[in-house]
Amino acid sequence: MDKIRLGVVGLGHRGRQMFHLSGISFDYVIPVAACDLFSRNWYKKQWLMDKPMAEYFPETEFYDSYDEMLEKAGLDAVLVETGADVHANFCVKALEHNVNVLTDIPVVANLEEADILWKAAQKSKAIISVGANPNEQKFACMLKDFYESGKLGKPYYMEAEYIHWSLPNSEFHKGITENGDWRKLLCPIRYCTHSLGPLLAILDEDLKEVSCFGTGQHADSSEYEEGNKKDDMSCAQFRTDSGVVVRLLRNGRCRAAIGNHNYRVFGTEGYMERIDRLDKPTIRFNSMKDNPELQEISGEFMPPAYADNPNAVGHGGMDYAILDKFFNALKNGLPAPISLKEGLAMTLPGIYAEESSKRGGEIVKMLYPWDNDWSTNIK
Ligand SMILES: NC(=O)c1ccc[n+]([C@@H]2O[C@H](COP(=O)([O-])OP(=O)(O)OC[C@H]3O[C@@H](n4cnc5c(N)ncnc54)[C@H](O)[C@@H]3O)[C@@H](O)[C@H]2O)c1
Repeated sequence: MDKIRLGVVGLGHRGRQMFHLSGISFDYVIPVAACDLFSRNWYKKQWLMDKPMAEYFPETEFYDSYDEMLEKAGLDAVLVETGADVHANFCVKALEHNVNVLTDIPVVANLEEADILWKAAQKSKAIISVGANPNEQKFACMLKDFYESGKLGKPYYMEAEYIHWSLPNSEFHKGITENGDWRKLLCPIRYCTHSLGPLLAILDEDLKEVSCFGTGQHADSSEYEEGNKKDDMSCAQFRTDSGVVVRLLRNGRCRAAIGNHNYRVFGTEGYMERIDRLDKPTIRFNSMKDNPELQEISGEFMPPAYADNPNAVGHGGMDYAILDKFFNALKNGLPAPISLKEGLAMTLPGIYAEESSKRGGEIVKMLYPWDNDWSTNIK
């Protein structure tokens, strides 16, 4: 494929950014179609944009119906950028039209969707890749290299936090929630992909059990927006069949601007962490194989392979890397850079964790569409 006719569904701030970056940075990508329920997101200047999307891309056709866009626009690929709890149906429809998909994360909202999407992907001639941009960050790249070089040894305990400063009355909050309610409603532990993705990339087995506790809400009830029932904090512990434990912390409420993404990985031969405090993300590591002393380097997001590329922007270059790898796979007929299997392996643990939390922390067994007994699992 020499040219890629690209569409997008979902023009909230994320969809606008990803489509804009695709359209301006890749000369072989033609931004032919864009879809949202709200035409203002295309025709009017929106939050964080210098001008309306329609002015950046006057040749692009706007649709308010996804089905119509899929029927009429002649797409090679679509970016699925709808709210975090409504991706699967858009992906399935695109795959049924043999349109290649780059979907944002989490990939599905429940086990039934996982089943349907898994089957649709297997039938389709198109590929589906998962836009797990934190898997492209410097820490994730270094961790993979460290593991593959043998310096980490076997990972036996890992932990991650994704903690956002919650500022309900800020301009940021207003901008980021004006197109949908999912940030208000989604159980925090379900947004687990940014944290689990980089860790699962060095595990050769799936997470198979979870126990999760939520704190409930501890501030005065008047401090929470209407409809917000999210725990102030949720904490899940996952375990693999061989006994590797992964702990994950996700917040609903947080009164401090601590860094969003933190990770610690303990291996039989070494250790690696990314700790983000005071806007100085830092990666530290050591290995008994070569250097037992803890070493320290800066932990910015920029994927090392893109560090010299002036086009590499968006979440510190991770967004560009995700798009570049996806478009490159389409151009060269390669497999999805981040497969649906990887996407589901980092998404389903959040769904099972929410279930455990609802059952008061009960241990819940976790199955995936590629497991033999999966069909017994779908309610
Ligand atoms: N990977 C990252 O770094 C990152 C960062 C932010 C957001 N995200 C993900 O990006 C996605 C979008 O986030 P957002 O903040 O822009 O969300 P949003 O809710 O602001 O925007 C979603 C848009 O989808 C549109 N939409 C919903 N149903 C539709 C339909 N049937 N047809 C057409 N349009 C429809 C809505 O009108 C809305 O404008 C989410 O899945 C989120 O998890 C990822």
